[in-house]
Amino acid sequence: MKVFLIGFMGCGKSTKAKQLAHRLNCPVIDLDAEIVSKTGKTIAEYFAEFGEAGFRNYESEMLKTYPYPENCVIATGGGLPCFFNNMEWMNANGETVYLQMEPAQLVSRLHNRQKRPLIANMDDEQLLEFIKLKLLERDPFYTQARVVVNAFDLDAEKLEAKLVN
Ligand code: S3P
Repeated sequence: MKVFLIGFMGCGKSTKAKQLAHRLNCPVIDLDAEIVSKTGKTIAEYFAEFGEAGFRNYESEMLKTYPYPENCVIATGGGLPCFFNNMEWMNANGETVYLQMEPAQLVSRLHNRQKRPLIANMDDEQLLEFIKLKLLERDPFYTQARVVVNAFDLDAEKLEAKLVN
């Protein structure tokens, strides 16, 4: 089984992916980290050089061409489900789980904003407004996930239970 974890920046996709993969005894793949290692550029550098459109093309290609093992847990970038047919592709190729979180909770978890070009330099107030607006735009994609789970206070055991039920 391939499990794709999706959700907004800061909802805990990378951490939960590691924990879930540990429980399921399978590899974890972090698509943003794969982009960094393949290109030798940070996400911020990639955005600066090729713009958001260039990044969206590359991340979609990475999603669809990565040589996934049979069983694995995949952490995706926050915007990935909302471009091209990426959400449809993930639903056709694995289990999708939306880690849902309230905007204020996301703000309090997003400390390292510099490495995220869409929110670099925002203060808490600006970030809260940005998240509220972006979630209106992104929720129609995120909620196409097979499983929608409240990510606040979520542990890997609960997450695993959501998958098998
Ligand atoms: C983005 C989220 C980031 C990264 C890029 C764009 C987004 O990933 O892909 O900065 O559009 O929400 P994380 O969700 O892992 O921070």
